Amino acid sequence: MNKPVAAILLTLFIGGCGKGGGSGEEVAVPQGTIAHQMPIPGLQETQRLCAQCHALPNPSQHHPAAWPGIVARMESHMIANKRPTPNQMEREAILGYLQSGWQK
Ligand code: HEC
Repeated sequence: MNKPVAAILLTLFIGGCGKGGGSGEEVAVPQGTIAHQMPIPGLQETQRLCAQCHALPNPSQHHPAAWPGIVARMESHMIANKRPTPNQMEREAILGYLQSGWQK
């Protein structure tokens, strides 16, 4: 697992309770954790459909509002390359994942 993904995992799982003087507990993300052990909504679909041609896109790469247009453009790449395209549910899962990770 690369660093940005680990950072996203941390943000998703401890976001909100990290700073505000809670228990002060550290939540460790074990190295080598794989998606089905720690499900993140949409991550599996994104891995399956969006890492066919290039590395898994990082949700923090784009503003949430930009992702639908990018996914639409990627679907035209998929069609042009005769790759599997997302169905409506998969598209929503992918967008949910990509739009949840905006960090800037
Ligand atoms: C059929 C191959 C293919 C698949 C599958 C694919 N991409 Fe891409 N992707 C490309 C190509 C080719 C480029 C470079 C040209 C471009 O940006 O349109 C690219 C570039 C990108 C970029 C960088 C350009 C930018 O605007 O930041 C992002 C982000 C991206 N893809 C996200 C995705 C996502 C999200 C999915 C899944 C929905 C996906 N890709 C699936 C082929 C693919």
